[in-house]
Amino acid sequence: MKNIQDMRIRFVGAGNMAASLIGGLINKGLTSSQMTASDPQKNQRDYIEQQFQVQTFDDNNAHFGMPDVVVVAVKPQIMKVVLNDVAANLKAVNPLVISVAAGITTEQIVNWTHTNHGVIRTMPNTPALIGQGAIGMYANNQVTQAQKYQTEQIMDAVGTSIWVDQEQQIDAVTALSGSGPAYFFMFMECLQEAAESIGLSSEQAALLTKKTAVGASLLAERSPESLMRLKDRVTSPNGTTYAALQTFEQNNMKEIVDRAVHAAFTRSIELSRVHD
Ligand SMILES: NC(=O)c1ccc[n+]([C@@H]2O[C@H](COP(=O)([O-])OP(=O)(O)OC[C@H]3O[C@@H](n4cnc5c(N)ncnc54)[C@H](OP(=O)(O)O)[C@@H]3O)[C@@H](O)[C@H]2O)c1
Repeated sequence: MKNIQDMRIRFVGAGNMAASLIGGLINKGLTSSQMTASDPQKNQRDYIEQQFQVQTFDDNNAHFGMPDVVVVAVKPQIMKVVLNDVAANLKAVNPLVISVAAGITTEQIVNWTHTNHGVIRTMPNTPALIGQGAIGMYANNQVTQAQKYQTEQIMDAVGTSIWVDQEQQIDAVTALSGSGPAYFFMFMECLQEAAESIGLSSEQAALLTKKTAVGASLLAERSPESLMRLKDRVTSPNGTTYAALQTFEQNNMKEIVDRAVHAAFTRSIELSRVHD
């Protein structure tokens, strides 16, 4: 089985997500010569070449070589065109195809490349751009155990990844971790504004909001205790936290969050039908 250190990877689309993956993989010890990338944007190609010394091309088929893995990192609406463009090379080389495009199914990828090869669909989130992503992954039946392991190694270069057994669960991942950073940003925005209304400057409120979010997240990740227990530890009977949490409960916070996550889930299912 090929270890990630011996693999050749081609990136089709060299925007934010590809750049994060390339940077993460170089941090993990891959050499620049193991990777190539293609993108029509000159500034993106220049960035990848200068930052990571990875060779880039404006044509998706130029110097395609014999990659073990092709990571397709373009916007969902152009996936069909891009996969049609590289279909002949994919057919000739038969690499593992990893997609990071939201809402594009493995079946669509197989259809658009006119082959029946291994395809992995992933759902990263924006913290992947700083190596802190939460990533859901689904593999079709053609993917081998070795390829699944290689994919874990690639995606773990930008965060923490988990497998789902059914493709529909990617819609649930989208509703949780895909969209999730925005839920936290919105809550932080509300918190900051509320703090300003009770006397803090916007700089003070912004700093304390961000540090509280980071501190609470790290504590939740590192502590063996449940979220409920951690919450209880901050909450003394009839104290300040208790007063705030009572307000959340009286206003059905749980129901609001549940409705929001279901709305994202439904929309994710709808969007994956749009690209057919
Ligand atoms: N960023 C994230 O955190 C995140 C999270 C979850 C999922 N994703 C998924 O990751 C994918 C890429 O997102 P991104 O944020 O990296 O987008 P991005 O920064 O816009 O990168 C996509 C790149 O592909 C280029 N491109 C356009 N047409 C192409 C073609 N025919 N062949 C090759 N490359 C082409 C784009 O150039 P132009 O600018 O000229 O179009 C752009 O440089 C999307 O499908 C998105 O759903 C991203």
